[in-house]
Amino acid sequence: MARKIVVTSGKGGVGKTTLVANLGMQLAERRARVVLIDVDIGLNNLDVASGIESRVVYDIVDIAEQKCRTRQALIQDKQCLNLYYLPTAHTYNSGKITSKDIRNIVCRLDNDFDYILIDCPAGIDVGFYRAIYSAGEALIVTTPHISAIRDADKVAGILSAQNISQVSLVVNRIRGDMVNHGKMLSAESIADCLNLPLVGIIPESDELSSQASINGKVFDIDDELNMAFGLLAQSIISGKVRLYNYKPSRPRILSALMGGKQKF
Ligand SMILES: Nc1ncnc2c1ncn2[C@@H]1O[C@H](COP(=O)(O)OP(=O)(O)O)[C@@H](O)[C@H]1O
Ligand SMILES: [Mg+2]
Repeated sequence: MARKIVVTSGKGGVGKTTLVANLGMQLAERRARVVLIDVDIGLNNLDVASGIESRVVYDIVDIAEQKCRTRQALIQDKQCLNLYYLPTAHTYNSGKITSKDIRNIVCRLDNDFDYILIDCPAGIDVGFYRAIYSAGEALIVTTPHISAIRDADKVAGILSAQNISQVSLVVNRIRGDMVNHGKMLSAESIADCLNLPLVGIIPESDELSSQASINGKVFDIDDELNMAFGLLAQSIISGKVRLYNYKPSRPRILSALMGGKQKF
């Protein structure tokens, strides 16, 4: 049976899709069978971020409308053969596909995968509920910005009333230099504030944001990010949290991790 993890945030643009793509790759590189499901219906981003957009033939709406079988819509990653994508529709009246449709699809994938990562849309309306309905666990992604933290708090409150066994936090776009200068909240203080277990710290990456603006892909990332996502994958697999450890040569990351001592 697969672990079904929804990646959510409330606020848009905080890095959910980036996290789903990279965490999925890291889990698959550790021999897990992984499928990434884009439930942001009508606003496909995961296929663009993962570089598979041109390979999409069928999508999740085609499955729900019985135009194809679930297997036919899956796209296998070219490099990592146990990583699959289930894309969403490019244009669609997203109200037509229901939470139960998604759950039926997830159930059909359950036996063939170890991890099903569900990329949730922004907001807390129908699309959000549709995405969380099939999940057994949730990763809430926030950035250190107050608006994102407030939305994460709202989402955490909603999830606590749902049938989700484990809700954890990933803080994305941490800049250690700013944390050290007291200009940015540390990941640990954000986790304290939200009262959520912290399972990952992902540093701000100039490379990632500039790549996204050039070709939309998120995989050709630098070593720091690779390591941060790798540790997140290990924490998820083992249940023992291992946060990204700094390299003394990279003061930004050093201070990101030192930032935990700095409460606000
Ligand atoms: N750690 C990071 N450092 C720099 N840019 C990032 C980071 N994480 C995400 N981004 C960028 O932020 C933008 C929004 O990310 P995305 O994953 O699409 O967010 P969401 O799915 O929550 O809307 C993208 O351009 C992405 O490349
Ligand atoms: Mg997204």
